[in-house]
Amino acid sequence: TLVLHVLGARPNFPKAAPVVNGLADLGIRQGIVHTGQHYDALMSDVFFADLGLPEPIANLGVGSGSHAKQTAALLVGLEEVVEREKPSLVVVYGDVNSTLAAILVCAKLGVPTAHVEAGLRSFDRTMPEEVNRIVVDSLSELLFATSPEALSYLANEGVPSSKVHLVGNPMIDSLFSALPKLDPAPVQERLGISGEYAVATLHRPANVDDPAAAKELVDAVLGVAEQVPVIVPLHPRGRTRLAEAGLVDGPRMRIIDPLGYIDFLSLVRGAALVVTDSGGVQEETTMLEVPCLTVRMNTERPITVTHGTNRLVTPASLPAAATVALAEGAKTPSGDLPMLWDGKAGPRIARVIAAWLQGENLSPAA
Ligand code: UD1
Ligand code: UDP
Repeated sequence: TLVLHVLGARPNFPKAAPVVNGLADLGIRQGIVHTGQHYDALMSDVFFADLGLPEPIANLGVGSGSHAKQTAALLVGLEEVVEREKPSLVVVYGDVNSTLAAILVCAKLGVPTAHVEAGLRSFDRTMPEEVNRIVVDSLSELLFATSPEALSYLANEGVPSSKVHLVGNPMIDSLFSALPKLDPAPVQERLGISGEYAVATLHRPANVDDPAAAKELVDAVLGVAEQVPVIVPLHPRGRTRLAEAGLVDGPRMRIIDPLGYIDFLSLVRGAALVVTDSGGVQEETTMLEVPCLTVRMNTERPITVTHGTNRLVTPASLPAAATVALAEGAKTPSGDLPMLWDGKAGPRIARVIAAWLQGENLSPAA
């Protein structure tokens, strides 16, 4: 028996660590295949160190390119590894191109797959991730959902309920494990920050690829920086376009390299406000109870709005929303945090996988 995990991009790593640990606790033989979709040390290596992930058994070095070129390289590289390793199950995470390619390769080779973070939907097919989610969920053998709305979305797409397990959110497991290490002081000191500050992360193609959209967004973030200093650990994708749009380093707007996992979450923990277009950051701010303004038209994580600290904003409404959030602090409308976001999703997933490897389908209700 061998379980392979296919990982490639930054958000994959915190989702996978609890599953890898859970399977290790059950003594299941496993290996990580790193596709190399993300390759900068601050987008990849630092996460292996911070999360204690084992060394990959292979790194495909796929790198960047258009969707077609990147996906093609992923398909070729992954087919070779899967044929060589002959895994009993391949586990994939989230909605990135590495996830899509792994699912396609396994479907064609007849290798069963499990999808962690199944059933998220923004209902916006202009998002590359939405396309990936739909394909991945339709081809997976085991689907692990983080929140209840996923169950109805998957049922509506014809996915049999026997395949779907509501297990909670492994990204939140990683956050729970990191909590004792999350100290804002050293990062603040290194960055020379004292007093109240906001953190912003921006990398969605819809926000950063188009010059006009980037300009509108940067003007809005500058509107926030007039109220509170903003620290921007900038994803490589947005660097050039956002700089051209006026996002430049200065005393009220610090543009820095991406931060490692522990440093980033430490900084967020001490922040008065987060502005983001990230998926994972919407969830982490909900758990850390830091107000989060998500600059997007929609979210595939509505539970962070109904049971968390997240609000959707447009660039036009961002500065005023920041004023309100800075005055009010975190407000969770429902009063309680999302169900099963309790730090135990990894072990739940591991138990279902272990049973499945024995030919048993643990009832999704279990
Ligand atoms: C990918 C995911 C996105 C996720 C994001 C997380 C897809 C389709 N998108 O987007 O869902 O939110 O990761 O961070 O899979 N680059 C570097 N160094 C790196 C990696 C990328 O400089 O280590 C630059 C390259 O110029 C590259 C660009 O970033 O062209 C985009 O990288 P890519 O992996 O294609 O997509 P992301 O925008 O990172
Ligand atoms: N993150 C990080 N350093 C940063 C920005 C984000 O460690 O500078 C972490 C963040 O805490 C979360 C993950 O990266 O765990 C989210 O990845 P990203 O925003 O790139 O992708 P998305 O969730 O939008 O797919």
